[in-house]
Amino acid sequence: MNHDVLRIQGGTALTGQVSASGSKNAALPILAASILADQPVRIGRVPRLSDVVVMQRLLAELGVSNRWTADGWLELETVALNAVQARYQLVRQMRASFCVLGPLLARRQRAIVSLPGGCNIGPRPVDLHLAGLAQLGAEIRIHRGYVWAQADRLRGARIDLSGRHGSTVTGTANVLSAAVLAQGETWLTGAACEPEIVDLGRFLIALGAQIEGLGTSTLHIRGVEQLGGTSYQVIPDRIEAATLLVAGAITAGRVTVSHMAPKHVHQVLNALDEAGCQLQIDTDRVTLKGPTRPRPLQIVTGPYPAIPTDVQAQLMALCTLADGTSQVCETVFPQRFQHAAELARLGAVVEQQENLATVRGRPTLHGATVQATDLRASAALVLAGLAADGQTTVQKIAHLDRGYEAMDEKLSRLSGHVRRCLDNQPAVNRKLNRASTSDQ
Ligand code: EPZ
Repeated sequence: MNHDVLRIQGGTALTGQVSASGSKNAALPILAASILADQPVRIGRVPRLSDVVVMQRLLAELGVSNRWTADGWLELETVALNAVQARYQLVRQMRASFCVLGPLLARRQRAIVSLPGGCNIGPRPVDLHLAGLAQLGAEIRIHRGYVWAQADRLRGARIDLSGRHGSTVTGTANVLSAAVLAQGETWLTGAACEPEIVDLGRFLIALGAQIEGLGTSTLHIRGVEQLGGTSYQVIPDRIEAATLLVAGAITAGRVTVSHMAPKHVHQVLNALDEAGCQLQIDTDRVTLKGPTRPRPLQIVTGPYPAIPTDVQAQLMALCTLADGTSQVCETVFPQRFQHAAELARLGAVVEQQENLATVRGRPTLHGATVQATDLRASAALVLAGLAADGQTTVQKIAHLDRGYEAMDEKLSRLSGHVRRCLDNQPAVNRKLNRASTSDQ
C-alpha cells in the first residue's frame, strides 16, 4: 500500500478542459476475457491504474503475457494454458479479479479462483456468478476459500441473473464470457445493461462470439468452437467523467470534460442540471458551469440507466453545500455510506438511516484531515476538499489511485491546488506510486 496523501488548498473555482480516460470497469473484464482468445489481442485506452496492474499480474500468472506498446496499447497473448489458479493474494487486492472465473472455465475447462471476501462498501456476494456457471453445466464446489469449477464442455442454458438488488455487473461478465464458448444457445435474462457490459460484449463479438441483445436485460448467445484475436478500444470512463464534472459544480467553476460519452451519464447530467449547473452537452464532451450555491437534490442510485452507485459519494459531497436539504437513497450497496462520517469532519451534516442519507446543506465546508475508505469515497473527499476553506489532507489516497488515472494531475490542470506528498512530509510534487492494495 502506498502511503501518499493529497494536500488540497480549497476555495479555487476549477476552470479549463481535461479528457476522460478509458473505463476501469470496462477494461478489467475485457482484460480477463482475453483468456478466451486463441490469437493475440491489443486493447487500447486501458487506463494506467493500480487495479490494472493487479489484473496484469494475475493474467501473467495465468499464462497470458501482456505488455504495453510504445503507443500505449496493451498487447496480450496466451503463452501457456495449464495455469488455472487465481490466488487469494491477488483477488483480495481487487474483486474484479474474480472475472477470470468464467473465461478460465470456458477456455481451460478448470478454474480455481479465490473467493473475494469482505469489502468496505458492504456485502458483495458472488452467488449469482456461481449459479449461472453451474447452469451452464459447471461442477462447482467451495473449498478452503476457493471456488473450484470444472466442465469438459459448457452447455448453453436459460439463466436468470436477477438478484435482490437488481442485476449483477461482474456476474453478467462472468457468465457471458463463459457462455460464448458453450455448446448451443444461452439466454441470459436479468442481465446487466451497463455500458461496461455492452463494451465487453462488443469485445467478445470482435473475437468472433455471437451475442444479441447487448444493452438490454436479455442476452442471446450462440456458442462458438473458438475465438480469435482482435484490436479493441475500451469506452471512456463514465464515472471518472462524472467525478470531474462534479468537481466543476462543487467549486462553482467552469469545466469541460472531453473524450467522454455524455449518453452514458444522462441521469448524472440531469441531477447536475437540477442542482443549478449550466450544461453544454455535445457528442463527446460536456461543459459545465457550476452555480454559486447548488440546489438540493433527491438522489436514488440504481442499475443503469439510473444514477450509478459509483457516483453517489461524489454527488453527496455536492449536496453538503446545497442551499437546502437533500436525500440520497442507495439501492445497490445499501451500506455504502462510509464517506458520510469523513465528510462530517469537513463540517458536512449527514444523517443516515439504513440506506437513506439526509444531507443538510451548509454554506461552507472547512479543511481538515480525512481518510479515504474506498475508491469513490476518496473521490468525494477530494471534491469536498476542493470546495472547503483552507487545507484538506486526504489520507490513504491509494484508494483513489486504484480507479482514477492521474486524478491529481487532471485537477491541477484545471487550476485546482492539489499536491501529492508522503504522509507527515511537506507538500512536494511526487510521481504517482500506483502500487496499492485494496478490496473492491
Ligand atoms: C460492479 O461491481 C463494479 N465493479 C462496481 O464498481 C459497481 O459499484 C457495481 O458493479 C454496481 O454498479 C466492477 O465493474 C469491477 P454487482 P459488482 O454484482 O459487479 C448484489 C467501483 O467503485 N449481488 O453489480 O461486484 C450485490 O450485493 C466499483 O468502481 C448479489 O446479490 O457489483 C449488489 O447489491 C465498486 N449476488 C448488487 O447485486 C451476486 O452474486 C449489484 O452488485 C452478485 C451481486
